[in-house]
Amino acid sequence: MDARIASAKQALGSDVVILGHHYQRDEVIRFADFCGDSYRLSQVASQTGARYIIFCGVHFMAESADVLSREGQQVILPDLNAGCSMADMANIAEVEACWEQLEQLGIARATLPLTYMNSTAAIKAFCGERGGLVCTSSNAAGAFRWAFAQAQKILFLPDQHLGRNTAFAMGIPMAEMAVWDPFMIYGGNSPERLRSARVILWKGHCSVHQRFLPEHVDRVRRHFPGMQVIVHPECRWEVCRQADAIGSTDRLIKIIADAPRGSSFAVGTEIHLVNRLARQHAPEGKHVISLDESGCLCTTMFRISPQHLCWSLESLLEGEVVNQVTVPVGVKHWARVALDRMLQVQ
Ligand code: 13P
Ligand code: SF4
Repeated sequence: MDARIASAKQALGSDVVILGHHYQRDEVIRFADFCGDSYRLSQVASQTGARYIIFCGVHFMAESADVLSREGQQVILPDLNAGCSMADMANIAEVEACWEQLEQLGIARATLPLTYMNSTAAIKAFCGERGGLVCTSSNAAGAFRWAFAQAQKILFLPDQHLGRNTAFAMGIPMAEMAVWDPFMIYGGNSPERLRSARVILWKGHCSVHQRFLPEHVDRVRRHFPGMQVIVHPECRWEVCRQADAIGSTDRLIKIIADAPRGSSFAVGTEIHLVNRLARQHAPEGKHVISLDESGCLCTTMFRISPQHLCWSLESLLEGEVVNQVTVPVGVKHWARVALDRMLQVQ
């Protein structure tokens, strides 16, 4: 399989660029021309001149690449079943219903909608059209500052944890945050609660990161004195507040790379990345383990297999584009506006 992928990739040359998210398995990531977090991969997608962008990641990432790509470029997701359970927790109809209720209460005009990258292109467009933007875990704080410079309130979609962690780090007290449950009238809040909230958090989460618990941090503190706990901001607030550092996948990687020899880390993020970091840094005497002993797998990222990658490449050689991801023209414009704003914010 390796030989077939390598040979198809070589034959396609500069016509194809392979982007790989850090959660991809080793057998796939070794063929990526660029590895990165969501932010970095969006930047690359907006700059590459390749005709075909093969995105080894999940659906919302491929959609964003299509929105950011140039005329004539085509984006391929090797397995279309590679979705994201968090992105599935908000659909555009639910978001529109939420906004209508905020309008009825007179709250919407003081609110900017801000969506995490992990959402559909339609939700990104919804935010762009209403003056809001997209953010990733690496620039969420900048996006919050950007939004608060123009509005009193933020509606944050769809990850309650990233929203809560970001707002809390900016000094916003919990009492000024409300959680919006899309299955309840007014999201399960009283109108007064929504009026007094500065941040309204959509009730979504990552099924991988939400599994990390405060007791996992306690266990590490007990058994590995001196070990640093570093976590992704999709983890619960109770976990993040006990951690030594919080960061996007790129940031977590950098923290370990920059640490002195012999340092040790318990990492709260997807297991493929944690295992890779453990292997890469073992020769420097750095000890890297998963914060949760059982390790958390992102099953949707895992759907991209070497076989799917091989099939995508060999099909291109035969002149066929398989599993192309395209965002409808009507959605593209405002999604692009929201993504361009994201790329301006650090
Ligand atoms: P990063 O942007 O930090 O890579 O995160 C993407 C993601 O889906 C994490 O679950
Ligand atoms: Fe989605 Fe969580 Fe997987 Fe990231 S780790 S792609 S948020 S399910």
